[in-house]
Amino acid sequence: MKEFRLKHKVYKWYDLLCIPFSCSPLSTTAIGVQKLLTALAAVLQVIVLANFVDSVNENLNSAGTLSDSIVWFVLLVICVGWRRISFMVGRIFFVKLKILANVQLGKALTDKRSKLQYYLIEDEESWNLINRVCKDPDDQVRLMAQRTFNLMLYIIRIVGVLYIVFVNVWWIGILTGISCVPLLYLSLKSGENNYNRKKEVAHYERRYQYYGDVLSGRDAVNERALFNYTEKMNHQWFDLYEEARKIKLRANIQMTASIRLGSAAMTVLSSAIVVVLIVPTARGDISSGMFVALATGMYDLVNMVGVELVKAVSQLSQCREYLRDLSVFAAMDKVKDVDSLPEINEFDLRDVEFRNVSFKYPGTTRDILKNISFKIENNCHYAFVGTNGAGKTTITKLMTGLYDQYKGEILINGKELRSYSQAQIKSFFSGVYQDFAKYSISVKDNVLVGAVHQMEQPDKEQYVNTALKRVGLYEKVMSLPAGIETPLGKISEGGVDFSGGQWQKLAMARAIINPAPILILDEPTAALDPVSESDMYEEFGQIGQGKTTIFISHRLGSTKLADKIFVLDSGSIVETGSHEELLHKNKLYANMYESQRGWYN
Ligand SMILES: Nc1ncnc2c1ncn2[C@@H]1O[C@H](COP(=O)(O)OP(=O)(O)OP(=O)(O)O)[C@@H](O)[C@H]1O
Ligand SMILES: [Mg+2]
Repeated sequence: MKEFRLKHKVYKWYDLLCIPFSCSPLSTTAIGVQKLLTALAAVLQVIVLANFVDSVNENLNSAGTLSDSIVWFVLLVICVGWRRISFMVGRIFFVKLKILANVQLGKALTDKRSKLQYYLIEDEESWNLINRVCKDPDDQVRLMAQRTFNLMLYIIRIVGVLYIVFVNVWWIGILTGISCVPLLYLSLKSGENNYNRKKEVAHYERRYQYYGDVLSGRDAVNERALFNYTEKMNHQWFDLYEEARKIKLRANIQMTASIRLGSAAMTVLSSAIVVVLIVPTARGDISSGMFVALATGMYDLVNMVGVELVKAVSQLSQCREYLRDLSVFAAMDKVKDVDSLPEINEFDLRDVEFRNVSFKYPGTTRDILKNISFKIENNCHYAFVGTNGAGKTTITKLMTGLYDQYKGEILINGKELRSYSQAQIKSFFSGVYQDFAKYSISVKDNVLVGAVHQMEQPDKEQYVNTALKRVGLYEKVMSLPAGIETPLGKISEGGVDFSGGQWQKLAMARAIINPAPILILDEPTAALDPVSESDMYEEFGQIGQGKTTIFISHRLGSTKLADKIFVLDSGSIVETGSHEELLHKNKLYANMYESQRGWYN
């Protein structure tokens, strides 16, 4: 089967059929044929009904034969019968289309989503769009096919009935046709309106769903019990829910009003037409059978133009809005060469330099880093210290290529960071982020994800065990029912949970199994008990041997291990030097150190 590919292009109205067709050509064609036959059956029914009534009439006047009436009757039963059962045939193909859409479009969306630039995930607006596009792709594809074919079906039926009217009394056909135009315009507008309202609702929905998660989820269960904020948060949940409900209600009222308005206008018009049709019938220009069929057809037309068409067009505008979102999503920046694995070749690191780097987070106006310059050299150990929010973690994010919209230069071996491939950047750095991840997979895999190229190696357990020993977690893991194969977290059967500190040690093991020359440790001991912490410091000598380490910590005693300390304050480096030199300067670092020491004493 050909794989669906998300193209970097503006998706147009014809993609409403092209997308379902690429997901499942067979089901889409079958649905199209089913809808086409249904539309033709409806149009045919008008002619068959006219002929049936006329042949019965002729029979009653002893002018026709009974077999004629029987033939028309059978045809009438076929038309009506097909219209009744065809939707069941269609349903089977819709189920198939949905399944394949999930496999095809769903996969393409997930693939792209996992490779998006970091800033897109952080930005509220793009994050909302990503969620809108990736939510239930199977339903989206089903709706595209269903709504497009439905519109086609109504148009064929309307044109068919109008044509029959036109052939019989031409001016009534034209008049009815013209009056459909403003109604179509009304439907288009109301459809777009409806979709925009939905977007507005999504803004509230996400927030009340978040409160819902806090109120019922597992993550906050301890604090929920302790602080007993349930009542208060319930109110906040309810307010947002109400806001969303009111917007939905308004949208529904508008939609219903435009449907009612349309159908009222069409009812008046078609009733007038039926009355007018009496004249050519009385004159014998049209048969009484045709009069009955056209009168029935006219009222059918009312329902189609006044109700079904408004719904179909309005629903189709929603699908087109989805295509607009999809086009934006398809054009979103991917991390360049994101699929590349870290290069395993030994990298000869000389230095990393920040030259006059300033940085704002995307979509914000405040400079988080202000004209920062520093140099990090191979095989040396560095520490970054400073108050909360000073910008320490931000520096590590820039260094590892998560954001590339900075001013100034970041140079690795004298070459701008942006000119390196992702594979190379990945091969330079390893580390523990401050908000490190806790994977609900086995202990072994939790460590091995730090060095994916080792996952297939026969002696990988050996590496895992060594890393676990270094971070002081080996004995604990050996005491688990399945050793390093024990699943962690609550999603696997028999999964065990670690304490905060144990998780942190595991993240550390993941960082040190990676052979990258630069190791970034952002608060790697924050959750450790005092003994583990000082054991870890002892290990740092070993861990950092032959590597460049960047250590971020609020425990200023530990920064003694660094060759050079950078002190950050509100996005600027305000002091630089070794521990002793900084104490000697007697400024911010000395102050922070003294206040911590004083507290210990
Ligand atoms: N994704 C983000 N979007 C916008 N602003 C952010 C984002 N992440 C951090 N900030 C802001 O950037 C500033 C620096 O944050 P950063 O995490 O670098 O501080 P830090 O020095 O590591 O602090 P801490 O010691 O608390 O870890 C903070 O004021 C924070 O509000
Ligand atoms: Mg931080």
